[in-house]
Amino acid sequence: MKITFKNKDIASVKTDVQIILLEKKPSIKKFVGENDIEALEESGFFKESGDSFYVSSSKRLYLKLKDFDTEEIKVAAAKAYSALKNFSFKSAKVEVCGDVQLFCAAFTEGFILGGYSFDWYKSEKKDSQLKSIHITAVLPKKSATTEQKLNETIEASIVVSQSVNFVRDIVNSAPDDATPIQVATIAEKVAKDEGFECKAYDEKFLKSESMGAFLSVARASAHPPRLVHMSYKPKGAATPAKRIVLIGKGLTYDSGGLSLKPADYMVTMKADKAGACATIGIMQAAAKLNLNVEIHGFLGLCENMIGGNAYKPDDILKAKNGKTIEVRNTDAEGRLVLADVLCFAQEYFKKAAKPFDYMVDMATLTGACVVAVGEYTSGVMGHNEKLKKLLLSSAEEAGDLMAPLPFNKHLRKLIKSEIADISNCSSSRYGGAITAAMFLDEFIYDENKQKWAHLDIAGPAYVEKAWDYNPHGASGTPVRTMIEFLKKMQKGN
Ligand code: BES
Ligand code: ZN
Ligand code: ZN
Repeated sequence: MKITFKNKDIASVKTDVQIILLEKKPSIKKFVGENDIEALEESGFFKESGDSFYVSSSKRLYLKLKDFDTEEIKVAAAKAYSALKNFSFKSAKVEVCGDVQLFCAAFTEGFILGGYSFDWYKSEKKDSQLKSIHITAVLPKKSATTEQKLNETIEASIVVSQSVNFVRDIVNSAPDDATPIQVATIAEKVAKDEGFECKAYDEKFLKSESMGAFLSVARASAHPPRLVHMSYKPKGAATPAKRIVLIGKGLTYDSGGLSLKPADYMVTMKADKAGACATIGIMQAAAKLNLNVEIHGFLGLCENMIGGNAYKPDDILKAKNGKTIEVRNTDAEGRLVLADVLCFAQEYFKKAAKPFDYMVDMATLTGACVVAVGEYTSGVMGHNEKLKKLLLSSAEEAGDLMAPLPFNKHLRKLIKSEIADISNCSSSRYGGAITAAMFLDEFIYDENKQKWAHLDIAGPAYVEKAWDYNPHGASGTPVRTMIEFLKKMQKGN
């Protein structure tokens, strides 16, 4: 699909169909093509029923929006895609509504994200016939922007949206098609294609690095674990504006282990690798956009399974930083894997004497986070208020929903252990997202406390119903947020 901006009057651009966005106001009828009024009137379009209506005589698809807000435009573009999928049109055009730059970016993103469907396992695939979309506006003579700049905006939107869809594909893949080794191979391929470094480490290496917590979680699986380190440095730039570390939870399947999940809760646990998959997608998009930021992505990839050699509740594990952990629930495995990966990443930069600016981990960590903020929102945690605000504003700009969850000293007591340094499970059901983050905090070195933030993406990473421009299944969050965040880093924020 080709999406382009044309500095032309819409009437002079010839396509098979026209998409018309209308703001739902009393004056809505004023903007409708004269001959279409009757058809739209009869369909009840101007009243409450339906958001879209196609008038075949004029080959126009009308969409009703609350206002021309960025998110509304994305949703409308997604609806336009679904409506047009059923026709055999090859080309479409749409006129800019509101700010031209914002419209080009939002419409493109909504169209590509809304056009995603996961059909790998379907015998019959339904492909859209649409090949090209023209976004049009007549730019004023003294316009600050140009046709070329707007096409660059569209290109950037395409890059990010395609990476989101790429992440959706990996997360949606069946667990037997996305084992730790297979996901590591995907990371290696992305790095090779984009021209940056990637190393995948096996069990032997994990042992040599004393990553006892990670190894214990991985032990009962037939699929061996992998620790992946992807490192992107901007091409040609003298000094990158910032050095950013991303950490992704990559449980390619979470059965719960011996603290086995009930059958209903186990379904969808292929999505427990969403943090690692998002890390791959973020690095792919950042490289394609040639962002002037050095980015290191660390993925903790393994499966949490059962078996005679499975780790058990009551086991005491030793993490890379020497801390001992009492296992009280093998289903709280993500924090065990992340504990070691966080330590590994921090050690790496310490040894290399390369201080990083920020470290953000992304993890489908707790059901408690979903209970706290709902399934469409991620939780943002950490000690640094400025960093959390940067992430929250990036989410807002990108269209992801995120909410801060505050630490407090009372909750910290709940992960104390009588016999080890810390327990992997809180003694209370309440505040589970925060106590999980506080567990991770035990593995953040003092000098890095202000550099770290944790994103619990358990809710929106995978939703079993379509919402806005997100399909059933994986959403690809938080790729868009993190690209906005990296752009802020590039600006030196
Ligand atoms: N992977 C799950 C968290 C999860 C739940 C992700 C729902 C996506 C949707 C995690 O490993 C887990 O099982 N956490 C437990 C922790 C508990 C045992 C302390 C949970 O949330 O119940
Ligand atoms: Zn679990
Ligand atoms: Zn998990």
